[in-house]
Amino acid sequence: MTSPDLTATAAWRALEAEHAELAATTLRDLFSADPGRGERLTADGVELHLDYSKNLVTDATITKLVDLAVAAGLESKIAAMFAGEHINITEDRAVLHTALRLPRDATLVVDGQDVVADVHAVLDSMSAFAEKVRSGEWTGHSGKRITTVVNIGIGGSDLGPVMAYEALRDYADRGIECRFVSNIDPTDVYETCRGLDYESTLFIVASKTFGTQETLTNARTARDWLVEAYDGDETAVVKHFVAVSTNAERVADFGIDTANMFGFWDWVGGRYSFDSAVGLSIMLSVGPDGFRQMLDGFHAMDEHFRTTPFEKNVPVLMALLNVWYNNFFGTGSHAVLPYSQYLHRFAAYLQQLTMESNGKSVRIDGTPVSERAAGGFAGQTGEIFWGEPGTNGQHAFYQLLHQGTKMTPADFIGFAVPNHDLGEMHDLLMSNFFAQTAALAFGKTADEVAADGTPAAVVPHRVMPGNRPTNTILAEKLTPSVLGQLVALYEHITFTQSVVWGINAFDQWGVELGKVMANQLAPKLSSTEKPADDSDASTNALVARYRELRGR
Ligand code: F6P
Repeated sequence: MTSPDLTATAAWRALEAEHAELAATTLRDLFSADPGRGERLTADGVELHLDYSKNLVTDATITKLVDLAVAAGLESKIAAMFAGEHINITEDRAVLHTALRLPRDATLVVDGQDVVADVHAVLDSMSAFAEKVRSGEWTGHSGKRITTVVNIGIGGSDLGPVMAYEALRDYADRGIECRFVSNIDPTDVYETCRGLDYESTLFIVASKTFGTQETLTNARTARDWLVEAYDGDETAVVKHFVAVSTNAERVADFGIDTANMFGFWDWVGGRYSFDSAVGLSIMLSVGPDGFRQMLDGFHAMDEHFRTTPFEKNVPVLMALLNVWYNNFFGTGSHAVLPYSQYLHRFAAYLQQLTMESNGKSVRIDGTPVSERAAGGFAGQTGEIFWGEPGTNGQHAFYQLLHQGTKMTPADFIGFAVPNHDLGEMHDLLMSNFFAQTAALAFGKTADEVAADGTPAAVVPHRVMPGNRPTNTILAEKLTPSVLGQLVALYEHITFTQSVVWGINAFDQWGVELGKVMANQLAPKLSSTEKPADDSDASTNALVARYRELRGR
């Protein structure tokens, strides 16, 4: 893949001129000049309705943003990804999370291998296993039914499963509780296993590489806990530990029977993997049918992304709006605000998806993106994603969104039909959902504040500047399929942005140095001998203080 410098194109220059014009207007002006925009600046991606009218754009802006996507060669790059070309050039790999949700009768041969057959073979074995556990046919070593599943993994082998498990609780078998251990902090595994009935606990060790320090250490600790509980009987492990990995050899070395391993492939990136075997905990919870409904939702959004013209393509529009704010207005962060308690881990999940993907400073050809900085924010890449569910966030950080000095674009995600309809609560939730985007967009002027009888000295403090852009995503109900659509939406937003920026969204070399340095430091922390002061002066001093506090 090449990475042409888009900042040198006519499309980019046209957007610079557009920015100069739009920066001088307001959403109030745009709406009063064009009341039809509330109906018109919308798009539908499968069951997700997007209203992007409360953005600082006109139809002309959208046309220019779409021109930018065309100049970036987005169409051919989408085709290359879906076809399994090795677009992850630094690891020479295909990027085929979209193949994980292809229907059984589809065909896709990549590098000589029918990946659809492979995907469905694993889905079938996951389903058979899930049925056995859910029906009670698969028991623990002493014959007890499994009632707790502990997923041990980190990053993509944790965040997706936790997020989706929480999101789909309403569809779960409530007789099976899932817990998640990720952190190397011993507190995590300690608190998770504390009080658990070992005889009815199943551990899933999920690691693409099966070489991740945190996961293997936690898995060893959990295995020791289990074996000790069984009075040292190692044979108990086979009924209580299964693995999810691409690396059968390491799974066997660890001591898990590879008959109880569910595989996936190097063309599935960790942060794009919870719809592979990495989602085994989700399948155990919602059952094979629920899991397949989720995959169908993913696939439907894939097809929307692959086939819909850019000006009606929800992921493309949202990605281009992100580029618009990030590269022309200089906004650095992006809030994602689901008005659904079930989505309380959604922002955490998105942080890995978006920031591990697009936190890059060189283009695919190795040249620094900063070369583009001459044009202001032109050299900027990945935004900082963050968020919390509404309405909790309203009572925490929304103050800054409304009256702070920074413009922070935000995605509001809400559902018309609640999973639990308790009195008027859902209508109250959604009235906040609709009110917030209107308040952010239109604010309240000094005259309006004064007209309420506010004392003159307080008026400036109560002025709401407005002009704060938001997207609204409204769906009928949070279902497994809708969750799949939502995740695929953000996957494709992330990819589209990477194409415009000319970066590789599918490697993560930036996480390696810290791992290597931690491995070098670990023996210094635990050794009984005084270690050499061969790190930097700050680290040497901190290690010495740590050792002293630990009595070493
Ligand atoms: O350190 C980052 C990372 O490689 C992520 O990309 C990945 O999701 C996570 O670690 C866990 O990796 P694994 O599934 O191989 O244990």
